[in-house]
Amino acid sequence: MVVKIKDGIYWIGAIDWDVREFHGYETLNGSTYNVYLIRDEKNVLIDATKGYLFQELMLNLKSLIDPKEIDYIVVNHGEMDHTGSLEKLVKYTGAKVVTNERCREHLELQYNTEGWEFITVDDKEELEIGSRRLKFIKTPMLHWPDNMVTYAVEDKVLFSNDAFGQHLASSERFDYQFKDLELLFEETKEYFANILLPYRMLVPGVLETLKKLEIDYICPSHGVIWKEHVGEVLERYLEWSSDRYVNRAVIVYDTMYNSTKKMAHRIGEGLMDGGVQVKIYNLSNTPMNKIMRDILDAKYVLIGSPTLNSNIYPSVAKFLAYMEGLKPADKKIGVAFGSYGWMEMATGVIKSTFERLGFKVVEEDCLTCRFVPKEEHLSRCYEFGKRLAQMDL
Ligand SMILES: Cc1cc2nc3c(=O)[nH]c(=O)nc-3n(C[C@H](O)[C@H](O)[C@H](O)COP(=O)(O)O)c2cc1C
Ligand SMILES: [Fe+2]
Ligand SMILES: [Fe+2]
Repeated sequence: MVVKIKDGIYWIGAIDWDVREFHGYETLNGSTYNVYLIRDEKNVLIDATKGYLFQELMLNLKSLIDPKEIDYIVVNHGEMDHTGSLEKLVKYTGAKVVTNERCREHLELQYNTEGWEFITVDDKEELEIGSRRLKFIKTPMLHWPDNMVTYAVEDKVLFSNDAFGQHLASSERFDYQFKDLELLFEETKEYFANILLPYRMLVPGVLETLKKLEIDYICPSHGVIWKEHVGEVLERYLEWSSDRYVNRAVIVYDTMYNSTKKMAHRIGEGLMDGGVQVKIYNLSNTPMNKIMRDILDAKYVLIGSPTLNSNIYPSVAKFLAYMEGLKPADKKIGVAFGSYGWMEMATGVIKSTFERLGFKVVEEDCLTCRFVPKEEHLSRCYEFGKRLAQMDL
């Protein structure tokens, strides 16, 4: 499938309906690897696909042009999901690889680049390809040191690579084709929360640069193309990087025999009755990336774990490591809870993660319980939740 974006610019990427795992990110809706073709005096590809999608990419490309007529392949970012097919692509097309110095280094460290011809570009540099100019804007650490975006100056099209993307396989290629726009923004938020969050302090500066450009289309390398909602997605990026939170509690737990679960639910009820929006997630059946989407702008994070063999429950340990790496905003309120049999060990591990993240830790006796919590204990959990909602923290 190929889709015309505007005269001379086409989407020729690959839709992966099957992918469910993406370096730990559970992609329940699949993903797309967007590749774009610009036809001018020089024919240009923007980014490539994962290695196994090479054939699909070639099929799409051949429906528009003889691949040997490709002059340049712009590589905005060296990660394998956009470069895995590059070795074959360079060999087959004979095209020159246009990228920045850091990305070139990353390509050389991942592939056999012998014989590749590179054009190394710097920040704000332009490349003329006929009637068009391509302008390269470096966006280091969003989310690798090698990231850049490419702006087709005359067309007002921004090829943003990972930025503004979503892991979402769909037949729709453009935002305005989506009936449920909020769903699209939720997917975009989830992507932000799991890919860009640790580097969010760099986002406002990049947005300032982008605001100086006129942008008719944002063409990311995953998900749909932004056309009708360009301003809105830029605004949402600013909002998600602001560290502002809403009055939401995210309660995350795992459990062996449901004791920790009972506590989670009662604390949640108290918070709800206290007027807080509550989300409760069991780690055994919820992808961590979904949970991080809600933690991004939550005021409260409550994490529960039973004690297993003098330690925290493994799925909770895994979640803590994941969350800590993503460095959600500090000044959140952290609560650790859990059931144990004879010597409680789990909540200390949770609390030390909260402390490293700069969360304000709230503690109470009722947050740990020996074996199965009795009704009296659960009602204390409920009261705690209700009080937490009112605490002036
Ligand atoms: C394999 C296993 C190992 C356990 N190890 C410990 C332990 O080292 N220390 C402890 O205090 N409790 C230990 N427990 C007891 C549990 O923490 C206790 O049953 C708790 O109520 C489980 O909570 P849950 O229903 O939320 O899973 C262990 C339980 C199991 C099944
Ligand atoms: Fe990436
Ligand atoms: Fe990517």
